[in-house]
Amino acid sequence: MSDETIEVLLEEGKVFPPPEDFKKQAWVKDDTIYEKAEKDFEGFWATFAEELHWFKKWDRVLEWDPPWAKWFINGKINVSYNCLDRHIQTFRKNKAAIIWEGEPGDIKIYTYWDLYREVCKFANVLKGLGVKKGDRVAIYMPMVPELPIAMLACTRIGAPHSIVFGGFSPASLRDRIIDAEAKILITTDGGWRRGKVVALKENADEALRETPSIEHVIVVKRTENDIPFKKGRDLWWHELMKDASSVCEAEPMDAEDILYILYTSGTTAKPKGVVHTTGGYLTGVYATTKWVFDLKEEDTFWCTADIGWVTGHSYIVYGPLALGTTSVMFEGAPDYPDKDRFWGIVEKYGVTVFYTAPTAIRAFMQWGKKYPEMHDLSTLRLLGSVGEPINPAAWMWYYETIGKSTCPIVDTWWQTETGMILITPLPGVTTLKPGSATKPFPSLKADVVDEKGTPVPPGGGGYLVMKTPWPAMLRTLYKDPDRYVKTYWDRYGKEIYFPGDGAKKDMDGYIWILGRVDDVMNVSGHRISTMEVESALVDHPAVAEAAVVARPHDVKGQGIMAFVILKGEQSASSELEADLKKHVGTVIGPIARPDWIVFTEDLPKTRSGKIMRRLLKDIAEGKELGDTTTLRDSSIVEKIKDSVK
Ligand code: PRX
Repeated sequence: MSDETIEVLLEEGKVFPPPEDFKKQAWVKDDTIYEKAEKDFEGFWATFAEELHWFKKWDRVLEWDPPWAKWFINGKINVSYNCLDRHIQTFRKNKAAIIWEGEPGDIKIYTYWDLYREVCKFANVLKGLGVKKGDRVAIYMPMVPELPIAMLACTRIGAPHSIVFGGFSPASLRDRIIDAEAKILITTDGGWRRGKVVALKENADEALRETPSIEHVIVVKRTENDIPFKKGRDLWWHELMKDASSVCEAEPMDAEDILYILYTSGTTAKPKGVVHTTGGYLTGVYATTKWVFDLKEEDTFWCTADIGWVTGHSYIVYGPLALGTTSVMFEGAPDYPDKDRFWGIVEKYGVTVFYTAPTAIRAFMQWGKKYPEMHDLSTLRLLGSVGEPINPAAWMWYYETIGKSTCPIVDTWWQTETGMILITPLPGVTTLKPGSATKPFPSLKADVVDEKGTPVPPGGGGYLVMKTPWPAMLRTLYKDPDRYVKTYWDRYGKEIYFPGDGAKKDMDGYIWILGRVDDVMNVSGHRISTMEVESALVDHPAVAEAAVVARPHDVKGQGIMAFVILKGEQSASSELEADLKKHVGTVIGPIARPDWIVFTEDLPKTRSGKIMRRLLKDIAEGKELGDTTTLRDSSIVEKIKDSVK
């Protein structure tokens, strides 16, 4: 978002204080909480932790030896116990925990009691296969109920899971399994995507050719297509579950034991294994689910993310279930069989709180009002947004067309690394400004600083930083503590977290996130590194060299533009262009497929041979070119510019 857009909005005075009736019923209706929480930082978090079940209470809330944090020292807790056992001892026993709808329209509703039994059974299955506390379990599944069941079963026995998004390629899966040294892989025969079967098992088999750590593959039957099955190694979920006992004690875990690893893109081609631990993570997602989404017993919460990403981990599974909420889970796409699918789901289950991504909102806008108008959306009372900056026009459309100008919108800023929402409105107290994630969650401090780390004055722009630790923060990068320190805690000293985003602070101290400042793109709310796409391109036999940058895209927010130099004997053609796009999709996954490919004879390079992506970005964005004097051959940028439409 440009500074001008922000200024215009502010001048127009488009601000939205919480509606009175919302405020009256909200968990947080008094903004003095910010002051109180800051004054008693540890006490604030202890209050949330006390709402959870602990086998043994912690001795201290926080040990902060920057950049190393430990939360709830010596506390013993189990996440699955908190998401299940705690509720089945109450009236929630037969409350819907997960309402699941498959793409073909099949429905399954799991009460807390049902879910508890399934999780215990699968935990016993894992144990029976020799999975012990601390062993890693890889999961590569579509959005089927067995996915949260598998996650909760892992947490029940203390086996960290590593979920790989079902849209990732065999190579991506392989690398993640190898890095995590996973013992078991859980997958399905296939997944439904717009009426077609995604061949997950075949992908998995390809990945497994080079993953010696995997002992067994557990396969859920979903699409019922024929799949290769390796005797001895591959096992059917339903057969294993048939005789499994539905009693399985939850393992008391140390608050700092690993809960899961989740890989995310960084500025190099090698993904980072973000490590989340148990007690702090659960406390953080519990607190934010409760306060940001203002969830009450009678709410029906739908977060439309895929569980393969952090949003699904925290706000489909762990946060909502820890809170005893009814969480909706949907397998399919928003436009299949038609573009009103989401709104049909909202109506059918009476969704009250709806959380989605700006990229989806922009697609809804393009499809038009007619689709939401086909359904009764009057149950909605709160809307949320996550994943990328939401442009004010999309915010307003979401507010008026989906929320009928009565639902507050929480624009929540956070990351895979932060585990929980950090910058966000609290819907009962915050006056909203379309496009701003507003302020840090109570007790936390964020700021916008310049190159040297000095806070910018109100109205200024710079780099976003976090100045306090938070309970769900990543503890390290798996097997790579040096990269953890270097990536996040090196720029402004060890006490200040650098998330890699640019931001602006307005006159009221509101934070406006402007997007990534490193070589990471944000495509449809998903992080993809330019390096990953470049290495996938040069992996193609026709490509000599490639440089990749993000370019504004109407629906995706950012699209991927690749500048490609072909090998001598190759010539550019639309077939080759299509083939390169397909190749990247195969190597990384369809989300990384470039939107535009520009064939070029050379790339703008400095005298030392470094590609100046900054200039390519200017070209891609159609901006005036920045300084070209350090280029070895400055005529090349003009040539490239001419070939970009
Ligand atoms: O650039 C920010 C953007 O998404 C990045 C984090 O991506 P990921 O780890 O995949 O997690 C996405 C879901 C939590 C951030 O560094 N981002 C996320 N939320 C927002 C956002 N940018 C602007 N506004 C947001 N609300």
